[in-house]
Amino acid sequence: MKILVTGGSGYVGSVLVPALLRQGYRVKVFDNLLFKQTSLLPHFINPLFEFVHGDVRDVHALARAVEDVDLIIHLAAIVGAPICSAHPELAEAVNYQGTVNLDSVRSSHQPIIYASTGSNYGKVDGICTEDTPLHPLSVYGQTKTKAEEHLKRSGNMIGFRFATAFGISPRLRLDLMPNDFALQALRVGNLIVYQKQVRRTFIHVTDMTRAFLHAIQHYEEMKNEIYNVGHERMNLTKEEVALLVKKFVNYYLHFAEIGSDPDQRDYEVSYEKIRSKGFETQVSMEEGIREVVSALKLLQPENPYSNISI
Ligand SMILES: NC(=O)c1ccc[n+]([C@@H]2O[C@H](COP(=O)([O-])OP(=O)(O)OC[C@H]3O[C@@H](n4cnc5c(N)ncnc54)[C@H](O)[C@@H]3O)[C@@H](O)[C@H]2O)c1
Repeated sequence: MKILVTGGSGYVGSVLVPALLRQGYRVKVFDNLLFKQTSLLPHFINPLFEFVHGDVRDVHALARAVEDVDLIIHLAAIVGAPICSAHPELAEAVNYQGTVNLDSVRSSHQPIIYASTGSNYGKVDGICTEDTPLHPLSVYGQTKTKAEEHLKRSGNMIGFRFATAFGISPRLRLDLMPNDFALQALRVGNLIVYQKQVRRTFIHVTDMTRAFLHAIQHYEEMKNEIYNVGHERMNLTKEEVALLVKKFVNYYLHFAEIGSDPDQRDYEVSYEKIRSKGFETQVSMEEGIREVVSALKLLQPENPYSNISI
């Protein structure tokens, strides 16, 4: 089977692509290398791997890329609330119109698995199921919601509403909340957490990969549905995440009573539906934080303008 992975050089893709190759799938990555990533370099030696430098806003390039593939995993996007708010037109063109473009060039026989997001829910009282009305708060959530709805109408698809990812990838993202908390604890030695009771939901990046593999292997039983992807035991408050970092780093943690976080997501999610299809995540927040803390020690960016260490 040959799989097209759009956005395959990103944080998620750089973990997913090697896993697909290890399973013996042929993999074609289509990516515009927005961040000048080199994370897929080790795979060019692999005859199962192919790379196309292309942009999802270019419908002709997409049409050529989909020609010989059996299944599509669509990751390409402008990812995260801050970058989408800073570049709303780009977010619309890539996240929504790019998805419409991809959908317009695939045949009805080519399944698509879409990386959607829990950001589609917004601020919700109670527990989100896949039937909870979507009220995305950010341009990111709004463009991802429109894209998901477009694919749902088109059919022959699976939509995965992923929790917030964490953990190490060859294309690292340190803006993700657990990764960012670990970074600040290690580098700055202190962390101020606003609105500590706000609840978020998380998934380790390798569990995202497992979910995609599961969907490929159980496509017929799972198709034409949306699934929340994560685990209830990973519905955690910001306080719980910050305290877990304390297990691995001795740092000063302050919970501020005044002030608020620009990220207003506060929600709890049910993962019953994907569990009923035989999928459960494996990696705990504690294991992921341990991983991130050890890996960040290895990266060691130095501050040259300080006499504190040599
Ligand atoms: N990381 C998370 O917490 C998370 C959670 C839920 C859903 N998702 C979804 O998973 C997918 C991957 O996210 P990520 O964390 O790997 O983000 P990322 O920013 O690391 O990866 C996005 C990739 O898309 C590529 N890209 C951007 N614009 C493009 C364009 N115009 N044409 C072609 N490629 C383009 C980038 O170069 C990058 O490789 C996204 O669709 C995102 O919405 C991520």
